[in-house]
Amino acid sequence: MTNTTLKLITPPCILDVVGAVDVPQVVRLYVEPEVRTFLGGPLSRHLAERRARELVVQSERGKAWAVRRSLDDPTLLGVVVLGQHHDLQDLEVSYLFLPEHWGSGYATGALAQVLTHAFGEAGLRRVVAETQSANTVSVRLLDRLGFLPSRTLVRFGAEQRIYIAESPRAHSGTER
Ligand SMILES: CC(C)(COP(=O)(O)OP(=O)(O)OC[C@H]1O[C@@H](n2cnc3c(N)ncnc32)[C@H](O)[C@@H]1OP(=O)(O)O)[C@@H](O)C(=O)NCCC(=O)NCCS
Repeated sequence: MTNTTLKLITPPCILDVVGAVDVPQVVRLYVEPEVRTFLGGPLSRHLAERRARELVVQSERGKAWAVRRSLDDPTLLGVVVLGQHHDLQDLEVSYLFLPEHWGSGYATGALAQVLTHAFGEAGLRRVVAETQSANTVSVRLLDRLGFLPSRTLVRFGAEQRIYIAESPRAHSGTER
């Protein structure tokens, strides 16, 4: 499935900067047990608040996005981050959405836009995603977006699957 097709079938959502105004909702992403089931459990509120403020800075640098329905609607649906993967070679996409917005296609739509940015403007050859094998919803999301499983390993006491999405230009010799 191409990104163009995904844009047509997913509900509208946009990538926006994470602002100071989003911090309380971002903190929820770090402390709510439902969101943290496959991410090592909830963070302490103190650490969550620090991480949320760091995310605002990361977003100013163009490496993290707030997902909203439109620029006119300030509701935070979730966040998507492009950060250094543990292998220190690739950039990893990570994604957390608030439970009340699950199952609507927002994560699919937002990740498709981040991949378009990564393989376009950012000129990346590939993007990595790492998810617990037990996180079947996340595995389905990556499959839907065209990520391919690369390997499994044990990290943080759980089996993790490493997925890779390659730029459409990766085999054409035109990538940076
Ligand atoms: C992982 C996570 C982002 C997936 O969210 P999600 O709600 O399943 O993703 P989407 O918003 O794209 O919704 C897709 C689901 O809605 C359905 N859907 C409904 N309308 C849709 C539409 N218009 N377009 C696409 N999917 C749609 C899909 O069929 C899919 O359901 P399925 O997986 O049962 O087939 C979310 O569960 C989450 O934030 N979890 C906690 C954090 C986490 O574990 N992150 C992963 C590790 S970084």
